[in-house]
Amino acid sequence: MKLLTLALLLATSTSAQPTAAPQLTAANIIAIAPSTASCAGSVAQSECRTAAQAAPWLTYSFSNFGHSAFSTQAALLSLILYETANFTYSVNHYPGVPGQGTRNMQSPAFNLLYAKWLSESCKNCRLSAAQVANAEGASVEAVLDLVNGDEFGFGSAAWFLATQCTADVRAALATGTAEGWEAYMGCVGAQAGGERQAIWEGIIGLGHW
Ligand SMILES: *[C@@H]1O[C@H](CO)[C@@H](O)[C@H](O)[C@H]1NC(C)=O
Repeated sequence: MKLLTLALLLATSTSAQPTAAPQLTAANIIAIAPSTASCAGSVAQSECRTAAQAAPWLTYSFSNFGHSAFSTQAALLSLILYETANFTYSVNHYPGVPGQGTRNMQSPAFNLLYAKWLSESCKNCRLSAAQVANAEGASVEAVLDLVNGDEFGFGSAAWFLATQCTADVRAALATGTAEGWEAYMGCVGAQAGGERQAIWEGIIGLGHW
């Protein structure tokens, strides 16, 4: 009888499933940047995306590139919100650098590297080496067009962190410390502090999605 009770207890305790980390939602983004609730009245209708449109592509990119820590995801989202004026833009308009864009506003050289990575190293990305070579031969804008749809455009920040930053930067960022944020800013070639950091600190203050 005692053994049976123990067996039942064990069965009960081992049947508990580990809880998956909560995922970024549109509501999280709207809480941080209320204007992302809607694109009505946006000055860039073709580029603007709402939180509801962006959230699935962002979580997809976090998962594709293995960015599982909340603080890392917070850093990627804050960079994107800053660079796109809260998802308003996907192309650099000020000053208007040709070929600069995506949701982390990558410069043309990185957009080409990204396009090549997508065509060579991503199995399900449906971008061929020939398409990339043609675009490269045409213009920097053509290369940007290849990587600036929602799937790739919202994924470029995660790609950049995974492929252009060191493992040390990723490890530091995942700890959620200011040092980690500074290391990330160093990798993307931006100054820590200012509005960029304020957005990240605001998200970090939430503690979780
Ligand atoms: C983005 O949204 C935040 C939060 O509402 C706001 O403080 C910031 O000014 C917005 N950024 C731009 C460029 O509009």
